[in-house]
Amino acid sequence: MNKSNSDKKISILFRNTIPEIPSTTFGTFAIYKYPAKFIPQVIAYVLKEYARPGMTIFDPFGGYGTVGVVSRVYGYNYELWDLNPLINTIHDTAIIGKVDLNVSQLLQDIKNSKVEFLPTWSNLAYWFTDEFMPVLAKTWGFVNSLPPETKAMFLIPLIKTTRYFSYSDEKVHKLYKSKQSKQKVLELLQMDWQAKFYGVLKRQIETLIKKIEQHSHLNPKSVEYRIRSGVDVLETNLEREVNIMVTSPPYLQAQEYIRSTKLELFWLGYNEEYIRELGRKEIPYRKVKEFEIHSETYHRCRAGIMEEHLKELYDRYFYAILTVFSNLSENVTDYMTIFVGPAQIRITAIPIDDIIVEHLQTLGWQHEVTFVDTIVGRSMFQAKINPASGFADSRMKTEHLVVMKRQG
Ligand SMILES: C[S@@+](CC[C@H](N)C(=O)[O-])C[C@H]1O[C@@H](n2cnc3c(N)ncnc32)[C@H](O)[C@@H]1O
Repeated sequence: MNKSNSDKKISILFRNTIPEIPSTTFGTFAIYKYPAKFIPQVIAYVLKEYARPGMTIFDPFGGYGTVGVVSRVYGYNYELWDLNPLINTIHDTAIIGKVDLNVSQLLQDIKNSKVEFLPTWSNLAYWFTDEFMPVLAKTWGFVNSLPPETKAMFLIPLIKTTRYFSYSDEKVHKLYKSKQSKQKVLELLQMDWQAKFYGVLKRQIETLIKKIEQHSHLNPKSVEYRIRSGVDVLETNLEREVNIMVTSPPYLQAQEYIRSTKLELFWLGYNEEYIRELGRKEIPYRKVKEFEIHSETYHRCRAGIMEEHLKELYDRYFYAILTVFSNLSENVTDYMTIFVGPAQIRITAIPIDDIIVEHLQTLGWQHEVTFVDTIVGRSMFQAKINPASGFADSRMKTEHLVVMKRQG
């Protein structure tokens, strides 16, 4: 990276920059724990600093849909893509305005419902004990028969309740059956678990109602938007111009998003073949065509990686995200802003942000600035020694927002 680029790094604490959004979990910015979700302040900062009225904001790795939810607050149109179809459910719930619901009556109706739904999932019996099935089937059957707005108020609370009644360990992002989670199910079976089930569901709905009410203080606007879910960014083109891209690509040591949200996807009605198909397309695990990368930092870091399988992961990752950003850049008119966490392979730190900057510079983009944000929640682990390397583990210390401006 040349000197002028490294001079353009500015320290910031995004979470303290937006007075109107007082916390990272405010309103409907945190109705579901999606892995590696944006904090809303990062997007709000970009919009306040770089957007002008009438612009369209675009996120090809939309995830939770945070870019859409924030764009509404500031009155911008938006387009979101993601491989994971969960974006529809989360986004549609997060943008609901006030809804009047008679929760107690609806819960009574569930108990009397005759409609049933169970996912077609060959592993269903591995994740749920037989005893809970009839109540789950009835509740999901009823919720699926509700009109869209009321249904949206139920889906996320019911997803969370369903997960709580499964053998999965909620403390682990991946779908994982642990000793503790098996114990949890045994304990549920020994109590009046039906009362507990409806109690958890009711509490979840009430929490959501409060979050929606809190969100209304941000006065979100009604804007135009488009969501494309289940799409692979490597095989999708922007069909129109957008003005600002705000995005956060998968990490180098990535989450497996599809695998960790599989249980939710099955209950939402997606079938086994489709979910398997999505899993195969995830970055950085999928095969990607070789791609010419114009970055001295990329080649220098690569030369330091000895193991073949790590070299392959490294290549796949950068081929994928730089192919995507290069293609998309043709239809972005003003700014590309890209948020990345630091990563390392063995003990070599990989400056993903610098690599992106160098590559996009060769495509006619000017490096405006890189904001360096400290991850507050994890900063206390900064001095931890990594037992494998004997070095201080610096992996999650900071996250970087790269701002590139179209030249000329
Ligand atoms: C870091 S997350 C984005 C989180 C998002 N910024 C938010 O606020 O929730 C990266 C996203 O990339 C998606 N992804 C991974 N591989 C993809 C692919 N081939 N095509 C489209 N999206 C993909 C994952 O599903 C995940 O939601």
